[in-house]
Amino acid sequence: MAVDPANIWLALPMPALLVGAQNRLEALNPAAEVFLNAAEKTLVGRTVARCLKTDVDMESDLNRARANQSVLFHHDINISRGDGDQALCDIQIAPLSDGAETMLVLLHPRQIKGRLGRALQVESSAKTAIGLADMLAHEIKNPLAGITGAAQLLAMSLGKRDQEMTDLILQETRRVVDLLKQVEQFGDLRPPNLKPLNIHDLLERARLSASYGVASNMRFLDQYDPSLPLTFGDTDQLSQVFSNLFANAAEAAASQGGTIRIRTYYEPGLRLRSKDGGQAVPLQIEIIDDGPGIAETMLDAVFDPFISSRENGTGLGLALVSKILADHHGAITVKSRPGKTVFRISLPMAPKIPKQDKGDT
Ligand SMILES: Nc1ncnc2c1ncn2[C@@H]1O[C@H](COP(=O)(O)OP(=O)(O)OP(=O)(O)O)[C@@H](O)[C@H]1O
Ligand SMILES: [Mg+2]
Repeated sequence: MAVDPANIWLALPMPALLVGAQNRLEALNPAAEVFLNAAEKTLVGRTVARCLKTDVDMESDLNRARANQSVLFHHDINISRGDGDQALCDIQIAPLSDGAETMLVLLHPRQIKGRLGRALQVESSAKTAIGLADMLAHEIKNPLAGITGAAQLLAMSLGKRDQEMTDLILQETRRVVDLLKQVEQFGDLRPPNLKPLNIHDLLERARLSASYGVASNMRFLDQYDPSLPLTFGDTDQLSQVFSNLFANAAEAAASQGGTIRIRTYYEPGLRLRSKDGGQAVPLQIEIIDDGPGIAETMLDAVFDPFISSRENGTGLGLALVSKILADHHGAITVKSRPGKTVFRISLPMAPKIPKQDKGDT
């Protein structure tokens, strides 16, 4: 089977750049767009030095590889991506063809301190952990039922003071049962029932329900782009995404509450790597709160299951959000500092329905 070389470029799992004369960017693959959190269109024509801030002189590396027409490796380069995120990378620079001015730059991120690169890894780690947890949940439920039954029997023959102990056993086992239910629900997540939908309608409904429930302590502001096209999503699952994000913001807020800002906009060029090449995810939704922010030490792991800073948190909220969005061929990333936490969701547009041929009867 003949392979179209363009597909190799799209499917390359590591960020790859083509750098031409005067070290200006000529092309980026989808993995590089995700890595740099910017669309190819906005970066092409800019110099490498402007787009990739490094702790070494990458331009001189490029010039050297170009002059020698040889492959050059550089290990342990710190790359900051404009917005403060840092990634430790090995880079490889190679002439695209003999005598060519254009150089191919491959980045091999070794440790991504920032958030974006994680979006690509989270889905599989979440799936493995959830699979295991789901199995465990089934195994734990039976002995728990035994413990509950035994505690109830014991309570009947105990005096009032000792009953406090059996009450505690019952209360705590109930908590474990609730947790197991959530884990099972997570494992049972069905594939999304994708339909064209207006994300603003969905956001409005989620916000109304949150303002009477999980986020009744919060003030909501919106900044919607009214021209945003329809997305392709599952109403229930996306409502769950927004509800989880509103709940987290509300739970993190100080006792007097806080503000949640919802912003939508369209970014045409952003693509995510996927098996069939690049998937365009132009619809952007940001849920921004002014709470205390997520601790730096937790930030890289918030989308992993069972990561929680709350006493009664299961740590499944954001893992579920991440799984739902991955199933929608979308993504979620986070940036946070005290006073400003931004969850950014990217979703694809609904496919165009071909118009019926009127003459065809
Ligand atoms: N908007 C936010 N502001 C501050 N911290 C946040 C925010 N969103 C998430 N977090 C942090 O991320 C952690 C993980 O969130 P996640 O929703 O996955 O779990 P949880 O809220 O702890 O538990 P639950 O399973 O009940 O949702 C939270 O415990 C909290 O520490
Ligand atoms: Mg939560």
